[in-house]
Amino acid sequence: MGAQRLVLDGAVVVVTGAAGGIGREVVREVHRRGARVVSLDLSQAAVDDAVRGLDPDRVLAARADVTVPADLSDAVDRAVARWGRIDVVFANAGISSGDSADTVASVADGVFERVIGVNLMGVWNTVRAALPHIIDSRGHVLVTSSTYAYLNGMVNAPYAASKAAVEQIGRALRSELAAHGATAGVLYPGWVATPIADVAFGKDELATALIKRAFPRPLLTPIKPRRVGLAVADGIEARSPRIQVPRRWIPVAALRGIVNPLSDAALHRDPTMIGLVREVEDRAHRR
Ligand SMILES: NC(=O)c1ccc[n+]([C@@H]2O[C@H](COP(=O)([O-])OP(=O)(O)OC[C@H]3O[C@@H](n4cnc5c(N)ncnc54)[C@H](O)[C@@H]3O)[C@@H](O)[C@H]2O)c1
Repeated sequence: MGAQRLVLDGAVVVVTGAAGGIGREVVREVHRRGARVVSLDLSQAAVDDAVRGLDPDRVLAARADVTVPADLSDAVDRAVARWGRIDVVFANAGISSGDSADTVASVADGVFERVIGVNLMGVWNTVRAALPHIIDSRGHVLVTSSTYAYLNGMVNAPYAASKAAVEQIGRALRSELAAHGATAGVLYPGWVATPIADVAFGKDELATALIKRAFPRPLLTPIKPRRVGLAVADGIEARSPRIQVPRRWIPVAALRGIVNPLSDAALHRDPTMIGLVREVEDRAHRR
């Protein structure tokens, strides 16, 4: 038997990365639909700013570093002490691989560990802290992956690896939670105009040139975070297994078994791509 639609009016929704571009919009949209929100991010000042103007009776804004399990269990305990339940957890905090494109050979020591620490361990820690309450309420878990879960992650391997792993957590959870009448889903944003995407849109000219070469223009145009906020709220209410936003990525995702080998082979053969990767590595050697 499938789980019922999730009613956001009155639901308790925990969001990490809630002061960022996507998290902030999700908090605002689920709050608009009547939810009580637990907004978590690295700094108290940033979450306070992000929830400004929302009904204080329906907001709990707190500092929580997703790499620290105790921060998350404290936040979950505070939410349950105040409202008695958690219906939705949106494990969304994330970071990029850095301010520049780099290969596996050229990336600085520690970057991989840092990206995995936040993007993968952070999701794991968030989900684990909230899960007993999600099971109790027959609620919903949503994890933020990325189109990078299925695209070739060249010059961005730490990030792509973290997002592919997050997808696996979401898919496994959905099957495991069926026994409890709860659900899980995976969010796959394409490019969204937030600070994390700056590196691919001008901050690093080589990263910008590489993605321009690799993707057709319609897939490249970044969307506003507001669109992700709406798609996420709709997806939570529908308990969607997958939220693809913008929807133009759906055919690429659906056909990944065919598209991936073809695009990998095309990247491998393209002299312009090979030249750009050389430039990335030459630049790293000069650093
Ligand atoms: N913007 C895009 O193009 C895009 C595309 C696909 C996926 N995503 C994913 O969406 C999610 C949200 O990103 P965004 O675009 O809103 O970027 P953002 O940089 O605006 O927001 C990310 C937020 O996560 C917070 N954060 C970072 N490390 C943290 C930690 N250790 N503990 C708690 N919070 C932490 C940051 O402070 C920030 O507020 C990320 O997981 C990102 O990887 C973004």
